[in-house]
Amino acid sequence: MTPPPAALEAVDLTRRYQLDGVSVEALRGVTLRIEQGEFAAIIGPSGSGKSTLMHLLGCLDRPSSGHLRVNGVEMSGLSDTELAELRNRTIGFVFQSFHLLARTSALENVALPLVYRGVGKAERRERARAALEAVGLGHRLDHRPSQMSGGEQQRVAIARALVGEPKVLLADEPTGNLDTRNGAEVMAMLDRLNSGSGVAIVLVTHEPDIAAHARRQIHVRDGLIELDTATSPPSTTRPTSPLQQSPRHSATEDHAPTPPPSPQPDPEPRLSGTSDRPTTPPSSPQPDPSPGVSETGDHVASPDPRDSGAGDRGVLPDPRDSGAGDRGVLPGSRGSGGGDRTGEEGR
Ligand SMILES: Nc1ncnc2c1ncn2[C@@H]1O[C@H](COP(=O)(O)OP(=O)(O)O)[C@@H](O)[C@H]1O
Ligand SMILES: [Mg+2]
Repeated sequence: MTPPPAALEAVDLTRRYQLDGVSVEALRGVTLRIEQGEFAAIIGPSGSGKSTLMHLLGCLDRPSSGHLRVNGVEMSGLSDTELAELRNRTIGFVFQSFHLLARTSALENVALPLVYRGVGKAERRERARAALEAVGLGHRLDHRPSQMSGGEQQRVAIARALVGEPKVLLADEPTGNLDTRNGAEVMAMLDRLNSGSGVAIVLVTHEPDIAAHARRQIHVRDGLIELDTATSPPSTTRPTSPLQQSPRHSATEDHAPTPPPSPQPDPEPRLSGTSDRPTTPPSSPQPDPSPGVSETGDHVASPDPRDSGAGDRGVLPDPRDSGAGDRGVLPGSRGSGGGDRTGEEGR
């Protein structure tokens, strides 16, 4: 049987932003492979490129160069609509500031991603309830975010990220707005979910204590990986080159290095992801996860990753980057080409 593809496989990703005519090279060539079920922390100082990398890994943004395969699917060939579809089915996001709909119950917040998949209301509610129970909030289904602690709100956000059973959970500074106790609670929850459900977790943080929860630490500095404990023992401080970190690229990758015999448990070489490109399922009338209005008439925002990360760098390149929790995102406001990627160079 063919082994599952890597959850995420990035090859030489770069990302340049244009800001007031100045080019900012936020990522300078990141090669990284996240296996199914891994728990990895991306750690680095502010401005090192962590959020940029997370946005690329989460297909919220496209790289300036390089390749990314998500669960075996090469993203570069996908249209924005196909990319949104892939994201909706494969990746869950958790943000520092939760991004829950303020006037909407926990249950409805969690059910939201399933709306985009065309899941019927009864099933949505049932799955949302189960997801909330899985994060220990079965007794808070009808509470609104304002009626919950920060830790509980973040657990609601985690339930929302997981309700669609993604392969990967990307969490950008998920404890950044929490006190120590609530932060510990959220990390314990992520630990449990990772071991229990097998979802791969990539956690972005600047706090070593938080990064220590993960089994693998990927240190980013100045847009490059300087140390990856998956390929270097933690005692080794010598920075690794990006090429050393991902020995198992697709043989079809034109500039991928020749893979050495794999030292890792994956028994077979990568398959090219391009042949398993998904098509939009007929059951999903809205491939773009931005439906606009919920059942309750509350304006809704997709749990769109671009909603976060902007705050901590003081750049708001996208209207969806702030306050999305309440203002909502209109249908089709994404996926309209480059307009949603303000800040990138013209291409
Ligand atoms: N949309 C943007 N436009 C211009 N520069 C950006 C944008 N996003 C990030 N940057 C710059 O890219 C670098 C990396 O930012 P970021 O990925 O947010 O770092 P981190 O998450 O590690 O704090 C920083 O120098 C930041 O100012
Ligand atoms: Mg950041």
